Amino acid sequence: MASFLLTLLATSAYAAPAASSQPPAILLTYNYGGYPRIQADIAWGTPAQKTVPTIFDTGSSGSGYTYHYTVGPCNKTVTNFYNWSVSKTHSKLDTKKGYSFSYGGNGKIVQAPSSINDSFSFANTKWPALLNNEVALSNWTVVTQLDDGCQVPESTFDHSILGLAPICPVTSGPSFRANLLSQGKTKSSSFSMWFDRVPKSVKSSYQRTAIFGAVPSKSKYTGELVRLKQNPPQGAFVGYYVSTPKLTATSITKPGKGQNIGLSDKSVKQCLLDSGTGQDRLPFSQEEALGVTGLIKYDKDAAFLAWNGSCDSIPPTATLNYTFAGATAGKSVTVAVPIRSYARGEFDEIPGVDTSKICGLSLSLDEYGDCTFGAPFFTAAFAVFNDEKKQVTLAQGGVSTGAADGPSGLGPITAIEAGQDVSGSV
Ligand SMILES: *[C@@H]1O[C@H](CO)[C@@H](O)[C@H](O)[C@H]1NC(C)=O
Ligand SMILES: *[C@@H]1O[C@H](CO)[C@@H](O)[C@H](O)[C@H]1NC(C)=O
Ligand SMILES: *[C@@H]1O[C@H](CO)[C@@H](O)[C@H](O)[C@H]1NC(C)=O
Ligand SMILES: *[C@@H]1O[C@H](CO)[C@@H](O)[C@H](O)[C@H]1NC(C)=O
Ligand SMILES: *[C@@H]1O[C@H](CO)[C@@H](O)[C@H](O)[C@H]1NC(C)=O
Ligand SMILES: *[C@@H]1O[C@H](CO)[C@@H](O)[C@H](O)[C@H]1NC(C)=O
Repeated sequence: MASFLLTLLATSAYAAPAASSQPPAILLTYNYGGYPRIQADIAWGTPAQKTVPTIFDTGSSGSGYTYHYTVGPCNKTVTNFYNWSVSKTHSKLDTKKGYSFSYGGNGKIVQAPSSINDSFSFANTKWPALLNNEVALSNWTVVTQLDDGCQVPESTFDHSILGLAPICPVTSGPSFRANLLSQGKTKSSSFSMWFDRVPKSVKSSYQRTAIFGAVPSKSKYTGELVRLKQNPPQGAFVGYYVSTPKLTATSITKPGKGQNIGLSDKSVKQCLLDSGTGQDRLPFSQEEALGVTGLIKYDKDAAFLAWNGSCDSIPPTATLNYTFAGATAGKSVTVAVPIRSYARGEFDEIPGVDTSKICGLSLSLDEYGDCTFGAPFFTAAFAVFNDEKKQVTLAQGGVSTGAADGPSGLGPITAIEAGQDVSGSV
């Protein structure tokens, strides 16, 4: 029996006795190896139980979709991360609301027959626990995966997802941000997130902070904080879309003037900003990008873009620059993403890959019909998602420090009121 897969699709009341100057905050990491994405390591219950790596997903909302599925031959019991009955802070189990969730084009279907409220806390205990959060508890999940002989261990699947896409009028499933707002813990559904400076060692974990209903001071970004119009596709969509940016790059070994890289598919008008995706998957010409930068295509047992050398040997200053048009005429913002941010070990395990000679990148070009900025992009972007104004506000991030210090490392904070532009933005 598949049992107790925890689905953190949301949480609610931030009832910690914190100073009003301290917004609800979540510490996030972006690790090296496997298929890393941005995650929050959350431990549920009091005392804190086993830490659940939780995907921090701006591309899912927690809303139910319609889906069709069939159950395949592989049948596994998953690790139990949260046994609510032994927590001192849990609420009554709610079995009246049942939830179903679907991710990745119905590649994962999660059934959660019950929900409960409890505290969750972080591995870094300088960050306070968030109290009374609502979570859907799953006991049954169907994952679509090619797996002859049922060899893939269950532990490689997502255990928990924190859906952060815009709040929908009709939500099925607990919504973290909607609950913060309804509980008066934030004044708007806006939230800010940014990464600290790129760590020196290429295999270190990146540290990131998300705060809800507030924006930190300019010390967390450089240049202007520019408002972009959200530009969703027609029809049904979930997540944050902005107009396709321009890409400029230069030779990694002999840097010169930035050169424009053309689109591989000019019909792609918008890009999804999705921190729950482990790659940047972009409709820019691969041939042009490789020609300009000197990156290579590895094409043996697997094909992927790579740096011809160890990941350590990528110059820290080498970047891909994405320039987005602002909502205000004449304003634009460039997010320079270090090539090192794409070196997250995604292809290290592929037989034949010698990591002393080749560094696989979590970057896919020549995409057709699609554009997604995932976790690598977010390492360099300071982003504020402002639903009420239908804006995404961006600046160059990856310049700050302090995530490891807890709330004291946040610096001054300004609340974002509903329907207002983000403080300090242009
Ligand atoms: C999965 O395995 C459990 C325990 O062996 C069994 O009770 C259950 O019927 C199986 N489910 C499916 C769909 O095969
Ligand atoms: C759990 O939290 C939600 C959202 O704040 C709230 O509506 C609900 O009443 C709480 N449930 C329990 C059992 O406390
Ligand atoms: C949860 O804890 C209770 C109380 O200790 C125990 O009886 C139960 O077996 C535990 N459930 C699981 C799935 O570990
Ligand atoms: C999950 O829990 C529901 C409600 O308790 C139950 O009806 C269902 O059979 C359970 N499913 C599995 C696979 O254990
Ligand atoms: C990318 O942007 C950075 C920071 O704005 C700048 O220093 C660098 O010269 C730019 N590189 C290219 C290739 O445009
Ligand atoms: C990678 O670098 C090595 C050593 O400098 C060189 O011999 C080889 O041709 C390069 N590979 C590609 C695909 O450029």
